[in-house]
Amino acid sequence: MRPGLAGIRKTAVRPQAWRRVGTLGIGAVLAMALAAMTVTLAACDAGSQTAGDKANGNGNAQVSARVDMNANANAGVATQASASPASTSTSTPASAVKVAAHEAGQTRAQVYESVRQMTALGKQLFFDASLSGSGKLACASCHSPDHGFSPANSLSVQLGGNDMHRTGMRAAPTLKYLQSVPAFAEHYHESDDEGDESVDAGPTGGLTWDGRVDRGSDQARIPLLSSFEMGSTPAKVTAAVKAAPYAEAFRTAFGAHIFDSDEATFNAVLQALETFEQAPEIFYPYTSKYDAYLAGKTQLTKAELHGLEVFNDEKKGNCASCHISQRTMDGAPPQFSDFGLIAIGVPRNRALQVNRDPHFYDLGACGPERTDLKGRAEFCGIFRTPTLRNVALKKSFFHNGIYHSLDQAVRFYAQRDTNPEKFYPVVKGKVQKFDDLPQRYWANLNTDPPFDRKPGDKPVLDEAEIKDVVAFLNTLTDGYKAGNKAGNQAAAN
Ligand code: HEC
Ligand code: HEC
Repeated sequence: MRPGLAGIRKTAVRPQAWRRVGTLGIGAVLAMALAAMTVTLAACDAGSQTAGDKANGNGNAQVSARVDMNANANAGVATQASASPASTSTSTPASAVKVAAHEAGQTRAQVYESVRQMTALGKQLFFDASLSGSGKLACASCHSPDHGFSPANSLSVQLGGNDMHRTGMRAAPTLKYLQSVPAFAEHYHESDDEGDESVDAGPTGGLTWDGRVDRGSDQARIPLLSSFEMGSTPAKVTAAVKAAPYAEAFRTAFGAHIFDSDEATFNAVLQALETFEQAPEIFYPYTSKYDAYLAGKTQLTKAELHGLEVFNDEKKGNCASCHISQRTMDGAPPQFSDFGLIAIGVPRNRALQVNRDPHFYDLGACGPERTDLKGRAEFCGIFRTPTLRNVALKKSFFHNGIYHSLDQAVRFYAQRDTNPEKFYPVVKGKVQKFDDLPQRYWANLNTDPPFDRKPGDKPVLDEAEIKDVVAFLNTLTDGYKAGNKAGNQAAAN
């Protein structure tokens, strides 16, 4: 095994900072500036139960402070904003240039107005099934606002394609709290004020389970064009936007001639989606019970508190070594992920169509969806650690959606090594452990607690502890209000 990969990832709780604003693109800065000014994006309530919530006490104090800094830096940012999509995106620069021209020399107020327009458009696009080849699939079909932007159903993988019967190989993740996912790096070093700069945390960051794109706009291109998802084309998307009720607003935002080019229109769609995904009050509101608890505004129950202890305990769950649970050194709220790409040996999901082929493996960062690290054995089997915020609203867990309850997911950690027969197939009395990762890649598997046991040992968590960790995970759902039954119920779903 090469150093610098799975084995070297720290087990200590890693301070997580409000990361650089680059991942989803510069729009984040603008969106955050909007938050600082407490501009309410009226058109942007997204139907999420959390969306309408007022800025909450806890994390947002920190967030606003940061955001103010960003807002101050914004005069400079505005020019960068116009320059960066054109220079960093691999797409035709046409739309970016148009946007750049559109934004050049804008006042701050105009930039905010532009972000407001794009966010509103992005929201409409996100819910618009007419963008898809089948006319039946919107982004929201797989990313439901009522479920933390994860699927409303409990299928392991969602149905798509032109006949709405095709499937991919991965579970649809939440779209919340992606704002601080750093750009993918093979060797990630914290900045000095975030932690120890000298430590190589291994492969980290990027969007999707394998970290293969860095920007929301580049990500949005994937489902729109994928034959097993929205199965569309730039021309179809353009035709749909032209015919949509928001066509005029689209022209206002992107210029009167935007529809002259399919490519430019498509890129503008991607940009609007990216901007929408950065609306703070929808995508990173920090309104969970745990946030209220960190702010000293509510108490956790005995079970939740015990669950948190087990979650943090380096000899027990050790969950927080990857799913950061503490505020960062500079006080930003925890993201419940260090965004590291890690192999934890999730069992093969035999219900997936792709897995009917015994030679097929979804190896995460080394392929097949991701292609730039193909043949790099040390990247096989690793997937990006997801945030656990809103995880209780999910109905399928892990990259292949194999489990359908939090109890099962936590039990996997607790008993994978002590009782592997509960998770992997048994053939002729022999457990086929790690059946979704060819043996030549097993060196990539993480071996820190809780993955340091063997059959015969005591499981790392007992039944009561599993239950309490699940109770704790239920405090991470946004929309909590002290004494509010609905919020609490949402958290218990
Ligand atoms: C058919 C279901 C489906 C549809 C429709 C869909 N997605 Fe997804 N989405 C997924 C899956 C599955 C993944 C994980 C893909 C992977 O890891 O390869 C994903 C991943 C993402 C991510 C990355 C999340 C992360 O944790 O890094 C974003 C952002 C996203 N989708 C946005 C969108 C947008 C915007 C649209 C509409 C243009 C959309 N999705 C349409 C299923 C879907
Ligand atoms: C070594 C890093 C690491 C540790 C320790 C760890 N996790 Fe994870 N967690 C991951 C990774 C990576 C994934 C995604 C793995 C995959 O799908 O292949 C994940 C996925 C999950 C999921 C599924 C989330 C979703 O959206 O599908 C849950 C729930 C979860 N972890 C809870 C826990 C709990 C509880 C603990 C402690 C008992 C824990 N994790 C310890 C890295 C870690």
